[in-house]
Amino acid sequence: MRYQQVFEKSHAVLDGETDNIAAMATIASLLAEGFSHFYWVGFYRMLDSELVIGPYQGTLGCLRIGLNRGVCGAAASEVKTMIVDNVHDFPDHIACDPRSQSEIVVPVMDVAGNVVAVLDVDSTEKSSFDGVDRDGLEKIVGLLESSTVVV
Ligand code: SME
Repeated sequence: MRYQQVFEKSHAVLDGETDNIAAMATIASLLAEGFSHFYWVGFYRMLDSELVIGPYQGTLGCLRIGLNRGVCGAAASEVKTMIVDNVHDFPDHIACDPRSQSEIVVPVMDVAGNVVAVLDVDSTEKSSFDGVDRDGLEKIVGLLESSTVVV
């Protein structure tokens, strides 16, 4: 299943859904099912200026990440999608699972443009993500931003 298919299925399944956890869990599940190389995929929610684990698929994730830490913290504080080809080259990368080698983190905004969560995807291979992944994931995350879901 490619990004357009995940987008369409997410859009259909989430139609009318107003609960943010339900929406994030659904997207994490569809992405994990659609892309076998997504070793870890899930959300961190912005709570009291800290990223707190949300719905995810994969091995045990870190529970809390400060905004000044790791790839997730960088994506949230710089408000931009981060693609890291080799996590070992990223200063202060947080190794929740040492098998992760590359990752992409996409910020989720509310209608006012505030970052309310990030979507984090990790792979056990280096250089797994590029602009196609960024565009596809940003469009899927946009479902949260444009729906009735208040993340
Ligand atoms: N890799 C992330 C931490 C979260 S986990 O990989 C699930 C980071 O450095 O921000």
